Amino acid sequence: MSELRIGVLGAGVVGLTTALQLQETFRQAKVDVIADKFNTDTTSYVAAGIFRPGTSFCGPDDATTSKWVNDSYSYWDELRGGREAANAGITHLSGYIFSSKSANIVRNHLIEHLVPLYRRATEAELRICPGDWKYGSFFTTILTETARFLPWATERFKQNAGRLVKKEIASFRDLHGGAYDVVVNCAGLGAKQLCNDHKLVPIRGQVIKVKANWLKTFFYGDYDTYVIPGFNSVTLGGCRNYDSYDTTVSKYDSLAIRERCEALVPSLKTAPAVAEYVGLRPHRDPVRVERETLRCEGQSMKVVHNYGHGGYGVTTAPGTAKHAVRLVVEALSGSSKL
Ligand code: BEZ
Repeated sequence: MSELRIGVLGAGVVGLTTALQLQETFRQAKVDVIADKFNTDTTSYVAAGIFRPGTSFCGPDDATTSKWVNDSYSYWDELRGGREAANAGITHLSGYIFSSKSANIVRNHLIEHLVPLYRRATEAELRICPGDWKYGSFFTTILTETARFLPWATERFKQNAGRLVKKEIASFRDLHGGAYDVVVNCAGLGAKQLCNDHKLVPIRGQVIKVKANWLKTFFYGDYDTYVIPGFNSVTLGGCRNYDSYDTTVSKYDSLAIRERCEALVPSLKTAPAVAEYVGLRPHRDPVRVERETLRCEGQSMKVVHNYGHGGYGVTTAPGTAKHAVRLVVEALSGSSKL
C-alpha cells in the first residue's frame, strides 16, 4: 500500500500548527510544508502574538467562531503549562486596554469568560497611563513570541519526519497532479491569487520592536495603539491600512506609532528601536475553513482551505487548524491509504 501524502501550503503559524496537528492525526503520513517564505519572512513573525481576537473576528457562524477561539486557547494554554513553554515562546501576560470613547471597546465577548482574569479597571487604574481614559479593562492572557514559536514548531515538525519545501505556489497546478492525496491551503494572503478570492484583502500593519525590558505589562489605547512586552523586545504598534500592499517601512507610520505609544507609556521615550517590520494581515470575512475538490490538469485535487485570519492568525491558528484537520479526515474517508 502506498503512503498517504499531505501538502500544507504556508509556513506561518497557521501552516505550522496545521502541519503539526496533521502529523498527530495521521501518524504514518508524509507531510510537506511548502512555502516561499519561512520564519522571519512570514507575517506571523511581525505579530506581537498576544491572544486577543478582535471582536469582529468571525467564522461562518457564532458557534464556529467561539469553537475556534476556545480550541485555540486550550492549545496555547496546554503548551504554556508544559515543559516546552519557554522554548516555544509561550507565557502568561497581563495588562490593560483603555478607551476614551466607548465601554464596548474594552469588552471582548470572545475571551472575557475564557481567559483566567478579565475585569473592569478601577478608577485608580484608569490613571496609570497619561490620557483622559474613561473606560478600561484588565486581563490576563497568553503571549506567543513568534520569533521563538516559528523555529520551535518547525523543528518539531522536522523531528516528526516532516519535510520543508521552498517553492512559490502561484497556482494549484504548480503542485503537479497526484503529488498529494490532499492539500491544505494555509497560504495567508497568497490565497488571493491561488483561489482568485476577492474577499481576501490585505490590512497593512507596521510595528517597532524596542528594548524596554522593564515593561512587564501590556497596554492598549485608542487608535490601534499598543505596547506589548515579548521575550526579547517590546512590540509597539500599530496601524491598519485597508487594501494596502505596501511592504516598506514608512517613516511617517514610525513617528506616529512612537508618538502614540510614548504618550501612553512615557518611559518608552528612552527605549531604543531594535527593528521595524511591516506585515500584510490577510483579512477575510468570514475566515475560510472549507473543503473543495478542484480539477487540475484532468485530475481531481482535494483541497482544504484554512486562511483569512487577518491580524488574529497567531491567536486563532490552532483552533482553525483543528477544524481543517477534521475536514482532511472527511476528505480522506474511504481512502485505501488510511
Ligand atoms: C498586528 O497585530 O498589529 C499585526 C499582525 C501581523 C502583521 C502586522 C501587524
